Amino acid sequence: MQSLQSIHNSGIGKVDADRRLGVFVLMLAGLLFLPGCQVLSLETLRGEPALIGQTKREADIACRDCHRDVVDRYLSTAHYRTSFEASLQTVSGPIEDGRNILRTRDPLTHFRIIQEDGQLFQVAEWMEKGRRKERKEPIDLVVGSGRKGQSYLFWKDGFLFQLPVSYLVEGDQWINSPGFEDGKVNFGRGIPPRCLECHATHFLLEFEDNQPRYNRDYMTGIGCGRCHGRANRHVSYHRANPNDRQGRFIVNPARLSRTRELESCAVCHSGDREVKKSTFAYTPGDNLSEFLAPDTGPQPYPDVHGNQVALLSHSACFQESDVMTCTTCHDVHQTERDLAAMSEKCLACHTEEHSTLESRHLGRLQDNCIDCHMPLRESRVLTIHLPDRVYAPQYRDHRIAVYPETKR
Ligand code: HEC
Ligand code: HEC
Ligand code: HEC
Ligand code: HEC
Ligand code: HEC
Ligand code: HEC
Ligand code: HEC
Repeated sequence: MQSLQSIHNSGIGKVDADRRLGVFVLMLAGLLFLPGCQVLSLETLRGEPALIGQTKREADIACRDCHRDVVDRYLSTAHYRTSFEASLQTVSGPIEDGRNILRTRDPLTHFRIIQEDGQLFQVAEWMEKGRRKERKEPIDLVVGSGRKGQSYLFWKDGFLFQLPVSYLVEGDQWINSPGFEDGKVNFGRGIPPRCLECHATHFLLEFEDNQPRYNRDYMTGIGCGRCHGRANRHVSYHRANPNDRQGRFIVNPARLSRTRELESCAVCHSGDREVKKSTFAYTPGDNLSEFLAPDTGPQPYPDVHGNQVALLSHSACFQESDVMTCTTCHDVHQTERDLAAMSEKCLACHTEEHSTLESRHLGRLQDNCIDCHMPLRESRVLTIHLPDRVYAPQYRDHRIAVYPETKR
């Protein structure tokens, strides 16, 4: 079905939002009714009213009463900030005159990002049959924390579509959205549920008169519940029993088996996998293979973008220790950018002298194992068409190994 590549690069269909929604509905229906796919029902996705179905703010405040430190750190993470309602604050790209434009290799086609009364819009201008054309759509939702970039969505007839212009942090510039062709104007790329399953807490796809619509009772960002499951009973129990210091009625992924713990990250970090059942309904501890088909991407070199699980599984560290999981190195409740601090995690297992190298790479060894053993590598599947070249973002290769290019 959808590959991560096609999802990041192309959404689900190049159909025009206005004229050909009918075709699109058929495609989408095909997608959802494939064997094994379940039609999502309100019951499976709507959370318990007090927490999950409510706004993010209310849900998180409920945890903050007792886990203040965790919540405060979590609010600045890429997970929490991975989708938002669009506003002047949440859209990262420049909107001042002169910088609010994306020119293309076609001198007559360009895009502008404009602001009217606090609402942002993308305006495309192009020539068609000798006449000047213009199309303007609002920036409604932001996808991407803005570490590397952001993409933008707009609502049309109850469905979500990807806007043609995205933002790239590198160079602080507007770019063609990943996979969009330079010099073409395309507002017809529908957003499949899978995109939101990885970038939000919950969205519900419904059909009204056979038209797909996303229910407006959704929750942006990745909330606590995606990794800890439903917490109503946990909260009410601990409110009633303030002296019990043992956490009850809540999933802590660290207490699951190694496989199940890894699956709690694999939901979104194992790349290209066919969806059998919406992962919005998945709770850590469940068997992930009931939700996603096996990873059939390239082995043993899966792409560095979005498939850390497969890459890590190809490392000697992972294979020859019984304990390594993602949380051996990552605390997902905080932003981690300090490579020296992350290198400390290596030393928990690698206590031996790195003697030959130590003499040659004095200093660097101490504070950074990462650049040599988990180098940044370009994604092979994520392509962004800049007017003058194709750009591929870089990610950490999670296959921890000796890379010949680091030998000197
Ligand atoms: C009324 C207080 C209270 C509220 C509200 C609360 N918790 Fe807890 N929670 C506790 C206590 C007490 C513990 C046990 C001590 C600890 O680990 O901090 C705990 C432990 C946990 C644990 C670890 C469980 C384990 O097995 O190690 C998780 C995960 C957790 N809470 C998640 C949440 C989430 C998510 C929310 C919000 C939806 C939340 N809690 C709201 C009191 C609360
Ligand atoms: C991306 C997945 C993920 C999200 C989102 C997440 N957690 Fe966790 N959480 C984990 C994992 C994994 C562990 C176990 C970490 C470990 O002990 O190595 C954990 C452990 C905990 C613990 C017990 C250990 C501790 O650090 O005190 C608490 C409490 C907790 N989380 C609360 C929260 C709250 C509150 C939120 C939302 C603000 C949240 N978590 C969001 C994955 C997540
Ligand atoms: C619901 C989907 C989902 C789950 C579950 C999930 N992640 Fe993520 N994760 C994402 C997305 C999406 C991003 C990219 C966020 C962005 O930058 O917009 C991300 C980013 C990250 C990052 C980079 C953070 C940064 O600061 O740039 C790390 C590290 C990470 N995830 C680790 C984990 C680990 C470990 C687990 C399991 C405990 C996990 N994730 C579970 C979706 C998920
Ligand atoms: C299978 C899960 C998955 C799906 C589906 C998915 N993404 Fe992502 N996305 C990720 C992860 C994980 C990252 C973090 C980078 C990495 O690990 O490769 C990411 C990164 C991003 C980023 C860059 C964030 C940053 O600032 O670094 C954007 C923008 C983005 N995705 C948009 C989308 C859009 C739009 C869709 C749907 C059309 C989509 N993604 C579908 C998992 C997913
Ligand atoms: C949970 C324990 C653990 C952690 C943490 C860990 N490793 Fe390993 N690593 C191992 C084991 C076990 C092996 C296999 C035996 C050996 O070569 O020592 C290994 C092997 C290696 C190898 C040899 C790889 C090969 O293909 O021969 C390198 C290089 C390495 N680790 C680097 C790192 C770096 C860098 C980090 C931190 C980013 C790290 N390791 C974190 C356990 C770990
Ligand atoms: C041995 C340590 C280690 C383990 C285990 C590990 N990571 Fe990482 N990860 C890192 C380091 C170091 C970075 C780079 C941090 C940075 O540059 O901000 C990183 C970065 C990331 C990023 C940010 C995107 C990128 O590639 O730059 C994501 C997403 C991520 N890890 C997910 C995971 C997931 C999911 C797992 C489990 C399958 C995992 N990591 C296991 C060390 C580790
Ligand atoms: C300048 C790049 C560089 C840095 C920094 C570096 N390594 Fe290495 N490492 C190598 C190379 C190259 C090899 C292969 C050695 C050889 O073949 O002579 C290696 C080998 C290893 C091995 C395999 C066993 C061995 O000793 O041959 C382990 C484990 C390892 N490194 C861990 C680490 C850890 C932990 C750190 C951080 C404290 C680190 N490395 C920092 C380049 C580096």
